[in-house]
Amino acid sequence: MFTINENYLKLPGSYLFSNIAKKVAAYQEQHPEKEIIRLGIGDVTQPLAPAIITALHKAVDEMGNAETFHGYAPDLGYEFLRKAIAENDFKARGCQVEADEIFVSDGAKCDSGNIQEILGLDNKIAVCDPVYPVYVDTNVMAGRTGAYNKERENFDGVIYMPCTAENQFVPEFPEEVPDVIYLCFPNNPTGAAATKEQLQGWVDYANKNGALIIFDAAYEAYITQKELPHSIYECDGARTCAIELRSFSKNAGFTGVRLGYTVVPKDLKCGEVSLHSLWARRHGTKYNGAPYIVQRAGEAVYSPEGKAQLAEQVNYYLKNAHTILEGLANAGYTVSGGVNAPYVWLKTPGNMSSWEFFDTLLSEAGVVGTPGSGFGACGEGYFRLSAFGSYENTIKAIERITKM
Ligand SMILES: Cc1ncc(COP(=O)(O)O)c(C=O)c1O
Repeated sequence: MFTINENYLKLPGSYLFSNIAKKVAAYQEQHPEKEIIRLGIGDVTQPLAPAIITALHKAVDEMGNAETFHGYAPDLGYEFLRKAIAENDFKARGCQVEADEIFVSDGAKCDSGNIQEILGLDNKIAVCDPVYPVYVDTNVMAGRTGAYNKERENFDGVIYMPCTAENQFVPEFPEEVPDVIYLCFPNNPTGAAATKEQLQGWVDYANKNGALIIFDAAYEAYITQKELPHSIYECDGARTCAIELRSFSKNAGFTGVRLGYTVVPKDLKCGEVSLHSLWARRHGTKYNGAPYIVQRAGEAVYSPEGKAQLAEQVNYYLKNAHTILEGLANAGYTVSGGVNAPYVWLKTPGNMSSWEFFDTLLSEAGVVGTPGSGFGACGEGYFRLSAFGSYENTIKAIERITKM
């Protein structure tokens, strides 16, 4: 008789977004006349930029012609895209990352979930609290954690690193030394960005302790403060301790197109074993490559027109973030994030719990956000508002919230 992977049973139900959807549906049913504004989403809303659409059309036409048709893509990605990535995302910022250290994929969610497969089950992981849930849940599925602890509302056997107002939402080194450290900057959900010194501190810490950093830079395009690092490879020594995850979702609106990549430097080793070789083996065995059409669209992200149009798109969302940040600050809210990230992280007023504030915001302003407690215990008493809506709706939402 077959058995199941019992680690899956440790996972509590997907409480956060299903609970939000249920509450919003119930409210809308009771108040069909009310217009609800959704600032809870992490999905983009602007259409694909013209340069991307042109590249997509061209690639589709190529697929309809025997001479230019493309079948299976190379499983690590097409050379034209890997070269464009290495040149633009890394060499242009002074980082030593070669095209053959880039593994093209269908997005950072899959990569951030899959990367743990090449690591031993005895590794102890450390994550920020609050956290993008994929890092934890995929380690739970693999059996790298203990049971869910209902009292603490997190998993035994995981090192949670509190990200609080006191440390400006950038974690301190934990008491217990982890084997694998997940870091995400600019951060989802807090919107905090790490400085070069902070990131260098983590790189030095990892190299000293033989730890691996998995650095998620899905939101790097939103960095506005010039001195902040976009890549962990801007830090000395990162090539021997860090893997970096990137996504085309938030910088280019590819959430429905699907494209991302992972950088595994050839200098990254566990004893004599190269992680680059392991990830190449894994990729080659389990993945047949992102579609040609999509990789051509990805290449267009780095064309002069693509760059200009996407900078405009990112600025559109950043303007929303600024509207939220300034509007709420003027109304007396304690707010952070929103300057180098498309998320604003606010302290709930009057010591309300995250869910109490969710209910209040929905019933009094008809605005939906995301309760901070859904991202971890340290998110309790906080709330995330997203800048990915339309400008008109963002203005309207802030007007309503500030009148509450
Ligand atoms: C921190 C973080 N990493 C990765 C992703 C997923 O990116 P992708 O769309 O490339 O799978 C998200 C999406 O919201 C995210 O917030």
